[in-house]
Amino acid sequence: MSRAIQAVRGMNDLLPDTLALWQRVERRAGEVLQAYGYREIRLPLLEKTELYVRSIGQVTDIVEKEMYTFEDRNGESLSLRPEGTAGCVRAGIENGLLHNQIQRLWYAGPMFRHERPQRGRYRQFHQIGVEAFGMPGPELDAELILMSARLWRSLEVRDVALQLNSLGTPTCRARYRELLVGYLEEHRTVLDEDSLRRLHTNPLRVLDSKNPALQGIIERAPSLLDHLDPESAGHFARLRTLLDDAGVQYAVNPRLVRGLDYYTRTVFEWVSGALGAQATICAGGRYDGLVEQLGGRTTPAAGFALGMERLVELLAQQEPVACSGQLQIYMVLLGGPAQRHGALIAERLRDDGVSVECDAAGGSLKSQLRRADRSGAAYAVLIGDAELAAGLVSIKSLRTDEAQEQIAEGSLAQMLKRKLAC
Ligand code: HAM
Repeated sequence: MSRAIQAVRGMNDLLPDTLALWQRVERRAGEVLQAYGYREIRLPLLEKTELYVRSIGQVTDIVEKEMYTFEDRNGESLSLRPEGTAGCVRAGIENGLLHNQIQRLWYAGPMFRHERPQRGRYRQFHQIGVEAFGMPGPELDAELILMSARLWRSLEVRDVALQLNSLGTPTCRARYRELLVGYLEEHRTVLDEDSLRRLHTNPLRVLDSKNPALQGIIERAPSLLDHLDPESAGHFARLRTLLDDAGVQYAVNPRLVRGLDYYTRTVFEWVSGALGAQATICAGGRYDGLVEQLGGRTTPAAGFALGMERLVELLAQQEPVACSGQLQIYMVLLGGPAQRHGALIAERLRDDGVSVECDAAGGSLKSQLRRADRSGAAYAVLIGDAELAAGLVSIKSLRTDEAQEQIAEGSLAQMLKRKLAC
C-alpha cells in the first residue's frame, strides 16, 4: 500500500456530522441578512496581491507574513484571499455598484492565512461577511451591530460580548500616532522585539500586544479616544446612543485596534469567553477611505465578518447533541424482495418531500437497526417477508419510546407526514 497523503496543515476537512451546525448557521445568517436587505455577492478566491497590499496595509501581519502569494504562469503576483472586504470593494468598483448608490452586500466562503495553527486559528477558515456602501452615519454602524446581535439571538448563542472603539480619521490618528510613539519611546527598554519592530511602522498595533510584560505600559498609554477629532467623537457618541436605545450592551475598549489598516472611526468585535485564546467570533468596522484608496470615488463603507469555525465551536459546546442531520426515515429492509419493494416506497416518500435512506448493506434486523440509529433518522420503516406478503409496514421511532406500529402500506406517507409534522 502506498503512503497516504494528508491534508495541508491548518486546512481542515469539514465532515458530515459537523456540517449540520454549519448549515444551520448559514441558513439563519441568510434569513437575518435578508431581513436587513443585504444581497449575496460571490467573489474570486484569488486576487492580485497588490489589492491586499493597498487595502489591508503593507505593514500588517497579514500582508507581511500570512498571505499565500505566488506568481502565476504569466509572472503575475496573485494571492489567495486572506479576507473578503478588499475583494468586495474591488468588485463593487469594477462592476459600478458603488458610485452614488447604496449597496448592502454579503458573501461567504473560505479565506486563507498562513498563521500558526491552533484551536480556533486555521490556515483555511471560513467567514460570512457583510459590507455596506454609501452610508456615512452611525446609524449604519448600529445596524451592523444589531444585525449581528439578532443572528446570535436567532442561533441562541450565549456568552458573547461586544467590544467597541473608534479609531477616528487618518488625520487624527496620525496626530495620536506621534503622541503614542513618543510615549512608547520613553519605555523603549521594556518593549519586546515585536513591539520595537512595530514602534515606527505600525505603533497602534503595540496596543494589541498580548505580552503580559507590556500590559502595564499599554494600560497607561494615551488613549486614542481622548484624541478624536470632533466629528469622529460625535459619530461615536451617537452610535453609543443608538446602541443604548436598542438595549445592546457593549464595553468600550480603547485598545481595540484591529489587524487591518483600512478602518476609520467605529471598530467592534464580538468576543466569547468560552473559546480560549482565539475568542473573537465576529469583527468589523467602518472603512470610509478604502473605496477611494482602491481607485473608486469617495464612498463611506462599513462591514464585518464572522468566523464560522469559531462560531460553530461555540454552538457545539452549547449543544453537544447538535442535530446530526436532516434525515427523517431509515428503511430497514429484510431480504431481497423487501429491498426491491422498499426502494419503490422510498421513491414515493421522497416525492412527498420526506427524506429517506434505504439500508443497502443488508444483514440482520439488529445490525440494520444499529445503522438506522447511527443515521440520525427520526423513524425506521421496517419491511420483511411477512409484511410484504400482507401489504403492511412497521414504523419504529428511533428517538422516543413511542410504541412500534404496523400499518397498511397505503397509509404510510400520510402517517409519516403527521408524525414528522411536515
Ligand atoms: P478579521 O478580524 O481579520 O476581519 O476576521 C474576522 C473574523 O474571522 C475573526 O473575528 C475570526 O472569527 C475569523 N478569523 C480570522 N482569522 C482566522 C483564522 N486564522 N482562523 C479562524 N478564524 C479566523 C476581517 O477579515 C475583515 N474583513 C472584517 C470586516 C468586514 N471588516 C469590515 N468588513
